[in-house]
Amino acid sequence: MTQIEANVHNPDGSRRVIVTKELPGSRWLEYLVAADCRVEVATTEDVLSRGDIMSWIGDQCDGAIGQLTESWDAEVFAALAGAGGTAYSNYAVGYDNVDVPGATTAGIPVGNTPGVLTETTAEMAIALTFAAGRRVVEADAFMRGGSYQGWLPTLYMGKRFHGGTVGIVGAGRIGAAYARMLVEGHKMNLVYFDLNANAELESFVADYARFLEAHGEAGVTCRRAESLEELLAASDVVSTHTALTDQTRHLMGAPEFAAMKDDAILVNSSRGPVLDEVALVDHCRTHPLFTAGLDVFEDEPSMKPGLADLDNVVIVPHIASATTWTREGMATLAAANVAALLQGQPVWDGDDVLPFLTGDLVAAAPSVVNASDLDLI
Ligand code: DGY
Repeated sequence: MTQIEANVHNPDGSRRVIVTKELPGSRWLEYLVAADCRVEVATTEDVLSRGDIMSWIGDQCDGAIGQLTESWDAEVFAALAGAGGTAYSNYAVGYDNVDVPGATTAGIPVGNTPGVLTETTAEMAIALTFAAGRRVVEADAFMRGGSYQGWLPTLYMGKRFHGGTVGIVGAGRIGAAYARMLVEGHKMNLVYFDLNANAELESFVADYARFLEAHGEAGVTCRRAESLEELLAASDVVSTHTALTDQTRHLMGAPEFAAMKDDAILVNSSRGPVLDEVALVDHCRTHPLFTAGLDVFEDEPSMKPGLADLDNVVIVPHIASATTWTREGMATLAAANVAALLQGQPVWDGDDVLPFLTGDLVAAAPSVVNASDLDLI
C-alpha cells in the first residue's frame, strides 16, 4: 500500500474531498472551497491502485475526483459510502473505468465531464488523420535523419482527402464534430454507423450540400450505414468514436480491417480496446498502404508488440483532450459535480455546460450519469 502524499487546500473545510491527481487551472478549486471542502490532492503521477484509494478514503471522506486510469469498482464505492461519501466525479467524459451499477448500489452519484472536449478531441482525431494519411511523421523523421536529397515526383505520396468518403463509427458529439470538420473543410462525403440516427448531423450535411451547390460546387452526402461492413467498404477514412462497452470491445478486428480499402486510414481516439490491436499490427504489417492514427491503446500505457515499429502508424499518448482550455474545463466540471452533489444542489438540465466555466459559480451538478437511477432528476 502506498502512502499518499497530498497537497491540501482549504485545510479547515468541513467536508473532506480527495482528488487522485493534480488538476490544471484554479476555478475547479473555487467550486470545492465554496462548498466548504478540505481538498486533498495526491501529488504522485503513479496510477493509484484500488487498495491505495480505499486506504486513502479511510474512515471519513465526503467525495472524490478520480481518473480514467483508476479502477473505481463496487468495493471502492462501498468504501466511499462507508466513510460517509456521497459524491464522485470522473475527470473524463468516458467512464468505462467506473462500475456505475456498483456506485448506484452504494448510493453514490457518478459525475463526468461532457461538453468541453468535443471539438478538442475531434481536432486531435483530425491531426492523426492527416498525419497518418499524408505520412507526416515518417517524412519528419526522414528530414531529421538528413535523408532529403531533393524533390522527387514520388517522395512520400499519401492520400487525397478532398471529395473522398469519411466513415464514423459512433455519431455522438465527438464523432459528429469530427465528421463535420472533414465534410465542411474537405468536402468529404459522410457515412456513419450508430444504433441511433443522428438527424441533426444528417440535416446539417443536407443544408451544407445545398450551400455548396448554390456556389457552383459539387454537393456532399450523408447516409447512415446499415452495417459496419458497409461503412468499412465505402470509406477512405474510418474514425471510431464509441464508448467502450461489452458490445464495442474489439468491435474492429482482423475481419473488419480486411473489409476496409487497402489504402484506408483508421483513426482511434475513443478507447484502445475498441480495436483488436494485435490484429491491427498484423494488418498494418501486411498492408503497407494502410495507415492508422492512434491516441489510445488496448493496454495503456503499453502497446502491443510491433506497433511502435510500424512506419504506417502514428501514435500519441492519449492526449486528444489535452488543450489547456479543455483540461481546465474538465477539472471545473468534475469539481462542480462533487461540490453540487455534496450541497444537495440539482443536476444541470441541459447539454450546454459552458456557464460553469466563467462568471458566477453555478449551483448545479453539470453531468451525473446515474442521476435517474438515484432519483436526482
Ligand atoms: C475522456 O475524457 O474520456 C478522455 O479519454 C480523456 O479526456
